[in-house]
Amino acid sequence: MYRTHNCGDLSLDQLNQNVTLCGWVQKNRNKGFIIWIDLRDRYGITQLVFDEERTPKAIFENAQSLAREFVIQVQGTVIERESKNPNMTTGAIEVLVHDLKILNPSKTPPFTIENDTDGGEELRMQYRYLDIRRNPVKAKLLFRHRVSMAVRNYLSKAGFIDVETPYLIKSTPEGARDFVVPSRMNEGQFYALPQSPQTFKQLLMVGGMDRYFQIVKCFRDEDLRADRQPEFTQIDCEMAFVEQEDILNQFEGLTRHLLKEIKGIEVDTFPRISFDEAMKTYGNDKPDIRFGMTFCELNELAQGKGFSVFDSQELVVGITVPEAAEMSRKEIDALIEWVKRPQIGAKGLVYVKCLSDGSFKSSVDKFFSPEDLAAWAGHCKAQAGDLILVLSGDTKTTRTQLSALRMEMAERLGLRNPEVFAPLWVTDFPLLEWDDESKRYHAMHHPFTAPKPEHLNLLKSDPASVKANAYDLVLNGNEIGGGSIRIHNQELQSQMFDLLGFSKKEAQAQFGFLMDAFQYGAPPHGGIAFGLDRLVAILGGEETIRDFIAFPKNNSGRDVMIDAPAPIDDAQLAELSLKITAAKKE
Ligand code: AMO
Repeated sequence: MYRTHNCGDLSLDQLNQNVTLCGWVQKNRNKGFIIWIDLRDRYGITQLVFDEERTPKAIFENAQSLAREFVIQVQGTVIERESKNPNMTTGAIEVLVHDLKILNPSKTPPFTIENDTDGGEELRMQYRYLDIRRNPVKAKLLFRHRVSMAVRNYLSKAGFIDVETPYLIKSTPEGARDFVVPSRMNEGQFYALPQSPQTFKQLLMVGGMDRYFQIVKCFRDEDLRADRQPEFTQIDCEMAFVEQEDILNQFEGLTRHLLKEIKGIEVDTFPRISFDEAMKTYGNDKPDIRFGMTFCELNELAQGKGFSVFDSQELVVGITVPEAAEMSRKEIDALIEWVKRPQIGAKGLVYVKCLSDGSFKSSVDKFFSPEDLAAWAGHCKAQAGDLILVLSGDTKTTRTQLSALRMEMAERLGLRNPEVFAPLWVTDFPLLEWDDESKRYHAMHHPFTAPKPEHLNLLKSDPASVKANAYDLVLNGNEIGGGSIRIHNQELQSQMFDLLGFSKKEAQAQFGFLMDAFQYGAPPHGGIAFGLDRLVAILGGEETIRDFIAFPKNNSGRDVMIDAPAPIDDAQLAELSLKITAAKKE
């Protein structure tokens, strides 16, 4: 038996017991006649003592060679510590060692394995297995496990069946590029890795499975951000014989369960907002509703008063920043520069300070009377002490810019409290989205999403106005899930491919299997997928998913530990009937 206890187990309850422990040397304090070692494993740290007088001589000498990250096994007696550490579960005891086995020595690690390490990001990624020994990373992986188990238990209890779907498939369009895998046995042909198991879960509904879930890897070749990885994990779900309402209720239940189970939080309200309303009120389809600062449109009050910057614009819109009227000239100038950065791209920013004496100070005092500004303040529900910030321009761009400003102000004012959780359903997404570049419509969610039945008659005449039974689950300003009611009728699916610019032949070649299936009694169905990495990160109070993934990719999509992607040799290329041009090879 390697060990009788783990490094987090022991307390005064085991006083005078003989124990065997295994673990890594975290710290080594050698006073000459006495050596203290902090022994670490997944469960905690236990202090070991090697004492010249009480430890057998050979063992004491052997202990001199111990260094950081050696893997050792010790036998010893649990004794009471003289100076106790109340911050450690094992802080009242130490183990007086009488036998030591070095199971494996270690080179000096390239960075310190401590909560605060001296290792930079790249180095820690290269030695990720060492990084995982550190408490903050380890804790995130344990946390992820808790979340995914809570999800599994909840869904399994609710009658969802875990079914695995294949990874070597044909393209499932979710809006990103595919990762492809060449087939050796089918020369010149490729599999695509799934961007999601979308079509398979629908086929499981046709197969009568009724309620499916899978915690599943998805692969998308897209630009990386803090909340995106090229391979990530979905909690993928599908249900038959349901309406949108059934799905929203079911997964509101899951979200409430997770918040309760993982964070001990009961959310009172689980609001819903339509896509149009979200865009108008927050300029964003994933609004953070932990704070207000909702948009107030000012066209009627601010146009036609001789301020030409506003007069010619499609939209004049502002937010009220609470208790920010005290901002200095310098701070406001910096804010104006902030909105002008290329990432935001606003041409300027108008401000109105609502002063404590009821008067106003604004950057447009020349054009607007105190009565005008009072009307703005009334409309924007600004109180004395608040600051109104206003942008103008075309509707879409201005909303995006003001949304970024709203988030920035919330960040600065500390309103994005990671311990407050505000979930929100965004519903009634448009079915289609016009793409200027390709000059055609794209599916806003994916091509299998059903139009609202009452909008079917608009599909031909005014496709842009058609809304879908599609919904996103937003948590603290992050899209953590998305889904829809699906098309389950062959003709409608075919019409949809038509609208998306697929020829009949292309649609048949790519999705013939699905349209065929729809002709064999496909039940009405719908579903949703949560991004597990995002969900876990947000429940963990962070927005970057990387640390919640055991072996993530870096910003260039590389795994720097195993050094992937990597070239393959000519023989393997030949076997796969692939050729790489000389320039690319270098
Ligand atoms: P969607 O494309 O909205 O829907 O994806 C579902 C959820 O997956 C997460 N997500 C990601 N997480 C990390 N890295 C990425 N690159 C990434 N891309 C997406 C998001 C997102 O909300 N098949 C549909 C679901 C359905 O209709 O049932 C789908 O995949 O949190």
